[in-house]
Amino acid sequence: MTADRGQRFASGELVLITGGAGFVATNLADRLLRDGARVRLFDNLSRAGVEQNVTWLRAQHGEAVELLVGDIRDTAAVAAAVAGVQRVFHFAAQVAVTTSLTDPFLDFEVNARGTLNLLEAIRACHERPSLLFTSTNKVYGHLDDVPLRQRNRRYEPAETAVARLGISETRPLDFHSPYGCSKGAAEQYVLDYARTFGLPATVFRMSCIYGPHQFGTEDQGWVAHFLIQALNRGPLTLYGDGLQVRDILFVEDLVEAMRLAHACIDRIGGEAFNLGGGPGNTVSLLELLDLVGDLLGERPAFTIEPWRPADQRYYVSDTRKFEAATGWRPRTPVDAGVRRLLAWLEESGTAAHREVTSGQVAS
Ligand SMILES: NC(=O)c1ccc[n+]([C@@H]2O[C@H](COP(=O)([O-])OP(=O)(O)OC[C@H]3O[C@@H](n4cnc5c(N)ncnc54)[C@H](O)[C@@H]3O)[C@@H](O)[C@H]2O)c1
Repeated sequence: MTADRGQRFASGELVLITGGAGFVATNLADRLLRDGARVRLFDNLSRAGVEQNVTWLRAQHGEAVELLVGDIRDTAAVAAAVAGVQRVFHFAAQVAVTTSLTDPFLDFEVNARGTLNLLEAIRACHERPSLLFTSTNKVYGHLDDVPLRQRNRRYEPAETAVARLGISETRPLDFHSPYGCSKGAAEQYVLDYARTFGLPATVFRMSCIYGPHQFGTEDQGWVAHFLIQALNRGPLTLYGDGLQVRDILFVEDLVEAMRLAHACIDRIGGEAFNLGGGPGNTVSLLELLDLVGDLLGERPAFTIEPWRPADQRYYVSDTRKFEAATGWRPRTPVDAGVRRLLAWLEESGTAAHREVTSGQVAS
């Protein structure tokens, strides 16, 4: 049985967000709390800086924010977190390709086993909450067979259909890097639990998300990391040639997509969707540096290092499947979103407190 499936969020309902102190979670929680939901955050606080997000949420929303400090690898803690909730957003993860290369067991335990812990906890519920899982574009692999050419300071697909529409869900899966494997395994479990056990669950395969409350580092969150390093005049490293292109999605637009996904779970359960800024919101690393230079009056300096494993030269989401299912559209253009992230970094003092030690990745 499922509570409130296929309906708008009801006032006072209890929502669980795993990885609840993180970047996406904080933006989502703020929105849900403003809509009148109660939010339970489940997080082991392992990501540096995320306690600040919890402090901020509590300052905004007080007692409506519940924090459970726990680990997604702990089955009993996960079962307790799921008790009594109507909806679940599952974000707790080992989030970096780089870390997955150095510690694949940790990556597997958190991402794959942790997701299975959550699925089993939901399956055991009398009233099963609906679930949204956040996967990654890395499940589509390196995309070597997509011919590219250089145009000015970016790569672009040689085929006009790919350039116009991006990469769709019909693309064969090709998990790349331990992170790609652990996230890919997790999303397949989620989709299969929808099929085999009837769980109301759906998957977003996300491209690069950016926005306020993001503590971008060398390992993950490259748009925020660029800005933090630029504000601090810290070192930046581009791996590859800087021409690589991503579609970046402002977090507010992602939050709207996530609310719609839960509201439409009866129709979209058991399906995976590519979610990103789409062909209208693409940027290369060099182009983002140019934009940062325009905003700050000084183009950040950088050094170049060789490509790293699983670095895609081009990834842009074809979001038409989700748009057709829900009516969603990305609303925030790249320059407006980057300005808002920059304003938050400056106003919150976040940039001033970050270490200025290392470079940049694109994931
Ligand atoms: N931000 C992006 O560009 C992006 C892109 C693709 C997919 N995703 C996925 O979206 C989700 C949210 O990403 P984000 O950018 O907000 O990441 P984030 O690192 O800000 O948030 C993840 C949270 O999970 C917590 N966490 C880590 N290990 C945990 C564990 N073992 N138990 C409990 N909590 C744990 C961390 O402390 C952190 O607060 C992640 O699953 C990530 O893989 C993000």
